[in-house]
Amino acid sequence: MNTTSQETYNYTVVRQFALMTVVWGVVGMLVGVLIAAQLVWPALNFDTAWLTFGRLRPLHTNAVIFAFGGSALFCTSYYVVQRTCHVRLAFGPLAAFTFWGWNLVIVLAAITLPLGITTTKEYAELEWPIDILIAVVWVAYAIVFFGTILKRRIKHIYVANWFFGGFILTVAILHIFNNLEVPVSMTKSYSIYAGVQDAMVQWWYGHNAVGFFLTAGFLGIMYYFIPKQANRPVYSYRLSVVHFWALIFTYIWAGPHHLHYTALPDWAQSLGMVFSIVLLAPSWGGMINGIMTLSGAWHKLRTDPILKFLIVSVSFYGMSTFEGPMMSIKTVNALSHYTDWTIGHVHSGALGWVGMVSMGALYYLIPRLYGREIYSVKLIDLHFWMATIGIVLYITAMWISGIMQGLMWRAVNEDGTLIYSFVETVEAMHPYYLVRFLGGLIYLSGMLLMAYNVFMTVARGKAAEAPVLAPAH
Ligand code: HEM
Ligand code: HEM
Repeated sequence: MNTTSQETYNYTVVRQFALMTVVWGVVGMLVGVLIAAQLVWPALNFDTAWLTFGRLRPLHTNAVIFAFGGSALFCTSYYVVQRTCHVRLAFGPLAAFTFWGWNLVIVLAAITLPLGITTTKEYAELEWPIDILIAVVWVAYAIVFFGTILKRRIKHIYVANWFFGGFILTVAILHIFNNLEVPVSMTKSYSIYAGVQDAMVQWWYGHNAVGFFLTAGFLGIMYYFIPKQANRPVYSYRLSVVHFWALIFTYIWAGPHHLHYTALPDWAQSLGMVFSIVLLAPSWGGMINGIMTLSGAWHKLRTDPILKFLIVSVSFYGMSTFEGPMMSIKTVNALSHYTDWTIGHVHSGALGWVGMVSMGALYYLIPRLYGREIYSVKLIDLHFWMATIGIVLYITAMWISGIMQGLMWRAVNEDGTLIYSFVETVEAMHPYYLVRFLGGLIYLSGMLLMAYNVFMTVARGKAAEAPVLAPAH
């Protein structure tokens, strides 16, 4: 393999983000398990304000999405952009700043959310001083990422970088516009938008947080790590490019499906529904492209647990992107909205797709970043099965309870009165909340196994250096 002698890739920042992905994964999922337990045993809030469900729930979502998912995205995008551009990461000190800055944001979130300091906008709860810090870190991230692309020594920009780049740019715009707010003190601000405009901007943000943070960035991971681990080229490179443009064009219009049957004009709701249904096509195009990359190498699935993580994650991606468009149909949404069905949908995407693709990528990276084989392949396999069983328990429990909940709410007697009181529906949820808690506990235990496996690998290895590949390669 051709290499240029002096320069090495910047693995330091990749290693830092890789380890923090594991740490924040454990923390975020632990909070998830705690709030799942609180829904089974409400006494677990110990009558303490900062331990209540209402305060810990946003802590969970922020920790898993931005701390766990965000660290995985920083880690993999910094690794992939250097390796595919055949240059060292641009602006080393700025890259280091993104690591410390992002972790400061997370720590500030972990302090302010339990204290009840919140804007109340879902997934954008953090107050204005933290928002400004996020914007600064994100601009630094964009400078490092696109700076590396600009100084690349390979003419072609590999498709994974298009997905990472699209994610970085769009998240900057979403974050800045949704968080335009008027501060009234250091810990309180009000949105500059009012009424239904506020709701529309919020769900334009919220849905694209799913589309770009939880999807486009992770598709970047799929397009690099599946071909690498399977040792096969992407099934159809042309499809991957169509996938990219079709996905980003369609996603941006789908937000109104979060506001069906609200004060939002009816035509806007229907437009959101239509774009959500159209979204099935690019999503499945990408899913098929990812899975078919294994063509001719299917047998590897039997023995390679990392590949199992990656391929099963893409299958969950396919599942949740089929379910999402169905739930966006107004008549279906009339049943699913406000119920646990949404929670089931969220976690088939979150645990199945986002969680498993990140775990697969980390298991690929850790040995390469620490110059040592993974401590135990058996433990990776065990983790895979625990994650899969945990997800299945979680999402089936939520589907059953969600649909039951929706049907109970709308059941009426002949004279039009409700058959069930609200408390009866809550009572009916109880067994399913217990199953969800158990599923979550198993998923979290798998994550703890991963933490142990990574720790044992890192403790016995040492920080690896890799020379930058020559442009001719
Ligand atoms: C051990 C694993 C996990 C458990 C036990 C868990 C549990 C929970 C619970 C109990 C809720 C609140 C549901 C409700 O309000 O009724 C929730 C919400 C949520 N979780 Fe998790 N979670 C886990 C992992 C994750 C991961 C890895 C992600 C993302 C990558 C995630 C993303 C979310 C989101 C976005 C919501 C809000 C859903 C909504 O508002 O519709 N969770 N989780
Ligand atoms: C084609 C793709 C998708 C479509 C059309 C879609 C559609 C939907 C719909 C209709 C809802 C329910 C809205 C409501 O009733 O309030 C929803 C909720 C949600 N979806 Fe999806 N979904 C898609 C893929 C995904 C994926 C892959 C993930 C995760 C990685 C995800 C995460 C979420 C979250 C977090 C929510 C809850 C938002 C909230 O109310 O807090 N979705 N989605």
